[in-house]
Amino acid sequence: MAADLDEATLQALLRAAHDARAKAYAPYSKFQVGAAVLDEQGRVHAGCNVENAAYPQGVCAEGLALGAMVLAGGRRARALLVVGEGPAPVTPCGGCRQKLREFGGNDTPVLIANGGGVQLRTTLGSLLPHAFGPDHLEGA
Ligand code: THU
Repeated sequence: MAADLDEATLQALLRAAHDARAKAYAPYSKFQVGAAVLDEQGRVHAGCNVENAAYPQGVCAEGLALGAMVLAGGRRARALLVVGEGPAPVTPCGGCRQKLREFGGNDTPVLIANGGGVQLRTTLGSLLPHAFGPDHLEGA
C-alpha cells in the first residue's frame, strides 16, 4: 500500500509530476496532467500529456512516464503518482490502468494529487480489478 512510500520518495514523486505537468502540451483540452513512476531501483520517471490535432493520437501523462521508465531500463512500477487540477481527483484513464498493469500489480500504490497535495491513495487492484496481465500469456 501507499504507506510504504517514505516521505522523501513521496516528495520526489510529487516534484517530478508537478514539473512534468508544467510542460504538458494540452492546447485542445487545456487540461494539463503530470505523472511520476517509481521504479524497482528507486528511480523516478516523469511524463506529461501530449495532445495532437488528430485528437485520438494524444498520449496521457501516465503512458509517457511508463515509457520513460522502460527507456531508462526500469521494468517494475513500484508506485504511480498523478497530478492534475479539477473538481475531482485526476485518476488514470482505463487505458493507463492497463498500461500500469504491465509493470505493476494489485498492490501497486496509485496516488492522486493537486496543488494542495495528495488527494487520494489507492491501488491498481482497486482501480482495475480482475485485470488481464502478462501472467495470462504464460503457458498459453
Ligand atoms: N489525461 C492524462 O494525461 N491522464 C489522466 O489520468 C487523465 C487524462 C489527459 C488526456 C488529455 O490530454 C487530457 O488529459 C484531457 O483528457
